Amino acid sequence: MSDTIRFGIVGFGNIGSGVVDLFTRNREMINARIPRPLELVRLADKDLTTPRPVEVPPSVEFTDDANSVLRGEDIDIVIELVGGLSPARQFVETALRSGKHVVTANKALLADCGAELFTIAAKGDVSLLFEAAVGGGIPIIRTLQQGLTANSLTSVRGILNGTCNYILTRMASEGSKFKDVLKDAQRLGYAEPDPTFDVEGYDTAHKIAILASLAFGQDIRFSDVFVEGITKVRAEDLALAAEQGCALKLLAIARREAPEAPVEVRVHPALLPRTSSLGGVDGVLNAVEVVGDAVGPVVLIGAGAGPAPTASAVLSDVMNLAQQMVDGGAPLDRRLKIAVGKRSVRPMRQIALRHCLSLCLLDRPSARDQVRAALEAESVTVDREVIRGHREGEYIRLALFTDLALEANVQAAINAISELDINAEPPSVLRREEM
Ligand code: HSE
Repeated sequence: MSDTIRFGIVGFGNIGSGVVDLFTRNREMINARIPRPLELVRLADKDLTTPRPVEVPPSVEFTDDANSVLRGEDIDIVIELVGGLSPARQFVETALRSGKHVVTANKALLADCGAELFTIAAKGDVSLLFEAAVGGGIPIIRTLQQGLTANSLTSVRGILNGTCNYILTRMASEGSKFKDVLKDAQRLGYAEPDPTFDVEGYDTAHKIAILASLAFGQDIRFSDVFVEGITKVRAEDLALAAEQGCALKLLAIARREAPEAPVEVRVHPALLPRTSSLGGVDGVLNAVEVVGDAVGPVVLIGAGAGPAPTASAVLSDVMNLAQQMVDGGAPLDRRLKIAVGKRSVRPMRQIALRHCLSLCLLDRPSARDQVRAALEAESVTVDREVIRGHREGEYIRLALFTDLALEANVQAAINAISELDINAEPPSVLRREEM
C-alpha cells in the first residue's frame, strides 16, 4: 500500500487549474487534516499546449492520455472536470469500473444519467461524489446528505447560477445591457463554455434536478424540470420589481406538499421580497434554502461559480474520500438514496402560483374591462392593482397581482390579453414566490 492517496484529474481547463492551484497552495494544511496525505499524480487533457493560469507542478505528469488517469494502476481517485455528456460519461464509467472513486463537478452528466452512474459505483463498491456540481463552493450536497439527513424535506429553493445572478444584479443596479454584463461574466470565468446554458436556465435546471433527486429520493432528471431562462427579462421588469420592494431572480424550486405528493421542479425568473433570505443575494453569489420538518428553513449563501470556489468543493470531496479509504465502511454520502426510475412530478400547467401581470394599455375607457373579462374567463382573480404610470389619452401602466391561479389559466389569460388591440406595449407576466 502506498503511503499516499493518489489522485489524477481529467480536464485541465478553468476549474482544473483552480483545483491544481488550491491543492498546491493548501497542500500542507489539507494533508494535516486527513489520515493519509494526498498526492496529485497525473493531469490529462486533449490540449497540451494552451497556456494555463497555473504551472503544472514538476512532480505531476501532464498527458493527453485520459486512460492513464481513468485506469491508472497508480491512481486511487479520479477527478472528472471535462464537463458535458460525452466523453465525460464514458470517462466516469471507465473510472468507476476500474475501481476508482470519482469526484465530478459535472451537473449535466448527473442530471442526465446520475442514477445509472450511482448504480455502477455502488456495484463496484466505490463512490461518486459531486459537491462541486451544485452551488459552486456552497456545501449543499453534504448538507442534504449528512447535516439534514434526519429530516423529511419539503422544499429546496435556490439561486443556483452565478452568471444569471450577476447579470440580473448589474442590470438592476446599473441599468447595464445584458450582452455587456454577460461578457464580463465570461471574462471572470463564471459562465459555461456555451453561455446559453446559463442564460436559458439549463445549468440551473441541471442543478435543481440533482437537489430534488436527493431531497425527495426520486430519479428526477433535467427533462423533468420546467425551464425558463432570463433572456426575456426586460429593464421594465427589473424596474417594476424595485418599485414593489422586490428582487427579480432566476429561481430554482423543488417542492412537495406532502411526502407522497408529486414534486414541483421548476426554474424561472421570479419576484421575491428584497428582504427575504434569497431576495438580497446579489452578484455571482448563489444561495439555497432547504426546509426540513424538524429543522425548519436553513439557508446557505456563497460563491456559486469560478475556479477557486469550485476547487474548494472538489477538494472537500477528495478529502472526504481520503478519510473513507482509511476508515473503511460505506460512505456517509449513500444515506440519501435515489430510487432509480421513480419519479412523480407535477406538470407546470397544474401548479398554482401567484403572478404579477405587467400591462401598458392604451388609455381607453374599455381597456381595463377587457382585461378583467379575459382574466375572469380563466378564473384568475386579482388581489391588488397598482397604477404605475398614466398619460391621459395615451397609456396607462398597470401591475396586477393575482391570487393563486393555475399556471395554465394565467398563460391562457395573458395570451388572450395579448390578442386584444388595447396594448400600448406587449404584456408580460412575472411569477411571484412567497418567502
Ligand atoms: N456557469 C455556472 C454559473 C458555473 O454561472 O453558476 C457553476 O456551475
